[in-house]
Amino acid sequence: MRKLVAGNWKMNGLTADGMARARDLVALATATPPACEIVLCPPATLLVPVGQAIAGSGLALGGQDCHAEPAGPHTGDISAPMLKDVGCTYVIVGHSERRHEYKESDALVRAKATAAVAAGLCAIVCVGETAAERASGRTEAIVVRQLQGSLPPKLGPAKLVVAYEPIWAIGSGRTPTAQDVASVHSRIREALRDLATEAVAVRILYGGSVKPANARALTTVANVEGLLVGGGSLSTEEFWIIASACG
Ligand code: PGA
Repeated sequence: MRKLVAGNWKMNGLTADGMARARDLVALATATPPACEIVLCPPATLLVPVGQAIAGSGLALGGQDCHAEPAGPHTGDISAPMLKDVGCTYVIVGHSERRHEYKESDALVRAKATAAVAAGLCAIVCVGETAAERASGRTEAIVVRQLQGSLPPKLGPAKLVVAYEPIWAIGSGRTPTAQDVASVHSRIREALRDLATEAVAVRILYGGSVKPANARALTTVANVEGLLVGGGSLSTEEFWIIASACG
């Protein structure tokens, strides 16, 4: 399976700049087809136009979150079938910003991931420790607990991606050492193996302050099969350098 680079635009982008970014990326991907798979996760307001702009380019579209129910009285929410309906093939669930800001539990993240897969999407499930958890030596225990609680059982690599995002690295400019990334990813691989045989081949992304300067070093660590990029995905130039590093 190809490596995966996901651009998580978060709550950034109005029509003009979002569309310019999408069109510029299409031009780059057409001129030099990337070795890795690329998915753009714009805010919900831009899913349709960005989806139209990237149609046929090989770039994929993803949501940043979904509800656990397919439809119903949930004001402000978007369901997995709705994401599928507008052309998404991926959705991020359990991002630490949602776990923190909306108190999303592992059980809710699992329900969302299950809904995503039921709708025909591939779920990118995020896990990661806080600075305090790392300082107290609990990183691996926390990540394994999150995986056990958040992953739907028996999913293979076509339906599931895991993103390891240390919370203290997100948007901070700080990243773990390659050695630390290697240990956590290897522990995640082991946990996936324990959860189900199909899951052992699931791609594990690293996320948190991925920049052009560190992308290559991070993507060549063992058991890193791609990157989840936040701030670095808002600049076409930076994002393209990052994606190109991920062969
Ligand atoms: P960052 O965010 O690249 O801005 O650190 C990554 C993420 O939160 O997905």
